[in-house]
Amino acid sequence: MREMIQAFPELLRTVKIDDRIIERAERESEKGLKGVCFLGMGGSSIAGEYVRSLLSETSPVPLISVRDYSIPRHVDKDWVVIAVSYSGNTEETLSAYREARKRSCTIFSVTTGGELKRVSDTSYVQLIPSGLQPRAALPMLLSVTLNLTQSFLGLDHTDFNEVSRQVALSKKEWVGNLMSPETLASKLNDSVPVFFAHGHLAPVAYRAKCQINENAKYTALSWEIPEANHNEIEASASYKRFSFLPIFLESHFENKRMDQRFSATRAILSSANGLVLKIGSRDRLEEMLSLTLYLDTVSLELADLNGVDSLSVDKISELKARLGG
Ligand code: F6R
Repeated sequence: MREMIQAFPELLRTVKIDDRIIERAERESEKGLKGVCFLGMGGSSIAGEYVRSLLSETSPVPLISVRDYSIPRHVDKDWVVIAVSYSGNTEETLSAYREARKRSCTIFSVTTGGELKRVSDTSYVQLIPSGLQPRAALPMLLSVTLNLTQSFLGLDHTDFNEVSRQVALSKKEWVGNLMSPETLASKLNDSVPVFFAHGHLAPVAYRAKCQINENAKYTALSWEIPEANHNEIEASASYKRFSFLPIFLESHFENKRMDQRFSATRAILSSANGLVLKIGSRDRLEEMLSLTLYLDTVSLELADLNGVDSLSVDKISELKARLGG
């Protein structure tokens, strides 16, 4: 897992999307589409969440994500669906895929193979290299999903060579601006990390929670601001009792009101000794990915501190086996 996470910046520029797939995606934009629906579970669902949070302000059509067996009723033949499954064998994603097929949606698949490759129209599948854990493949899944969605919406493609370079450089900030991943891991060991974030950093908080769950086999929570200001904040008195440690993912791209909201939230939660993580970046995507790489590394350090194997996901495999998958 350490090697996979070290490869994170490199993996952002590993996949070159097939030109024919890009042409097909651009054709969807010319035809006019009603919306884009991302399918995927666990590590394979994160790419869609990142794309949604980045493009929802610019997209003229809804971008939705489905982490379940079925797609909403309003998703019809004029919608484009992107089915993402690293293994290609995830039951929920395959079920939602079949439903989209029945509704005659245009479906693009992103996978290494498996059943998803088998059932997909060959000219609508972007294959990606196998051999990783799905959650470590996020950089590849994201580069494909974002560029495809940009084609559907008639937007310029993000240059992932440049993003990769910047994210690699962001490691320098770990020394000056953030504490080292080892230090953060030891600070949160024996407490429950509770990540708070807003907008484009909300899926980064959720990803951090999932990486801590899967890599360190350790519980964590994530909440979105401003919604958490209307409920979770009332629970702050119990943070000490449960050893909850609030961690605020703060952005350089927030408006003044949101900055005020974060400091007011921190003030109210102050008895719980919260931490702020903020990383210098040129834009929102680089901010998301630089923080993701940092927090992925923290999850590894936490796994090491607790002597657990960060690679295996025995419980996920056991559950899939119990369900006969
Ligand atoms: C394992 C992982 C899981 C899987 C999930 C879905 O590394 O991240 O959360 O992503 O079980 O499987 P795939 O990604 O193969 O569709």
